[in-house]
Amino acid sequence: MEHGLSAFFPSSRIITIGGGKGGVGKSTVAAGIAIQLAELKKQVILVDADLGGANLHLCMGIRYPERSLSDFISGAIPDIHNVVINTPVPLVRLISGASGIYGLTNPSFSHKHNMLSGFKKLNADYIIVDVGAGSDENNIDFFSLAENGIIVVTNEPTSIENAYGFLKNSLLRKLVRLFTADQTVCGIIKNFSNPKKSGFNRIEHLIEKVRAVNPRYGKMADEIHLRYHPRLVVNMVKNADDVGVEASFKKIAKKYLNIDMVYVGYVVYDHAVEKCIKNIQPISHYRESDAYACLRAIAKNISVLETQEHNGE
Ligand SMILES: Nc1ncnc2c1ncn2[C@@H]1O[C@H](COP(=O)(O)OP(=O)(O)OP(=O)(O)O)[C@@H](O)[C@H]1O
Ligand SMILES: [Mg+2]
Repeated sequence: MEHGLSAFFPSSRIITIGGGKGGVGKSTVAAGIAIQLAELKKQVILVDADLGGANLHLCMGIRYPERSLSDFISGAIPDIHNVVINTPVPLVRLISGASGIYGLTNPSFSHKHNMLSGFKKLNADYIIVDVGAGSDENNIDFFSLAENGIIVVTNEPTSIENAYGFLKNSLLRKLVRLFTADQTVCGIIKNFSNPKKSGFNRIEHLIEKVRAVNPRYGKMADEIHLRYHPRLVVNMVKNADDVGVEASFKKIAKKYLNIDMVYVGYVVYDHAVEKCIKNIQPISHYRESDAYACLRAIAKNISVLETQEHNGE
């Protein structure tokens, strides 16, 4: 059983969406997948966990959410169920984010713990968590609510680099949580973030070092590592080259982190998406759009994977 936050959650029904870089379409993809899972008759709660720049409500066609995560964190609304609001899309509900509230962009441990255990109590077929940009600890913790979250990437070097950093940090955080009591091992893992300091840059070398401290630790690290198969979505695809990011990103993840990512699809660059944001409408207003069809395919792939995982396949 994995240690840390995700151990508390029935993670098969939590889908987290991250990616490192800002503006790559995490919220668009989160809202789109939620809408498409609802089309498959699933009850969905979208959670805006982007504490720095919450705007998922706009992707769901809501200009001013009446309640948000900040009401829960401040204690104004003690029960997380009462923070959930309806959206214009049947079967999709929303916990709006908490941006602009002083002190919330870096919640205390107890605030974060309250939030995370609050999500656990939510009742839906799927809980989709939109994680903010950047690889800071909060984002990585939210991302790790799911065993295998989705990383969104675009065909830009900055996006690829940030997504790689995000992937690496999410794995390292899983490992650090295993060994919180052992400062030596935590130090080795943290140094791996910085190849200049550690002198190595492949995950195998890291796990070897951990094994050298204690063979049992090496086995534990192996288990976590081998079970980690985050998913990959390529967004803003304009041509075949852009789709090719899938293969190149998976190759880097395999080479340096020995992670087999699972590609779940791409979303084309589509003016319908821009129109949604501009007009504050969910993508379901543009059912004939190419982006809508891409999101449908992604949701189908995800629901197949979730069913397989649920059945232990
Ligand atoms: N497939 C797409 N085609 C066209 N425009 C897109 C697409 N995906 C996203 N966009 C546009 O890119 C912008 C950023 O998208 P979005 O807000 O979803 O990104 P994000 O990663 O959540 O950003 P942030 O890091 O700020 O939260 C929006 O204006 C959106 O309309
Ligand atoms: Mg966003």
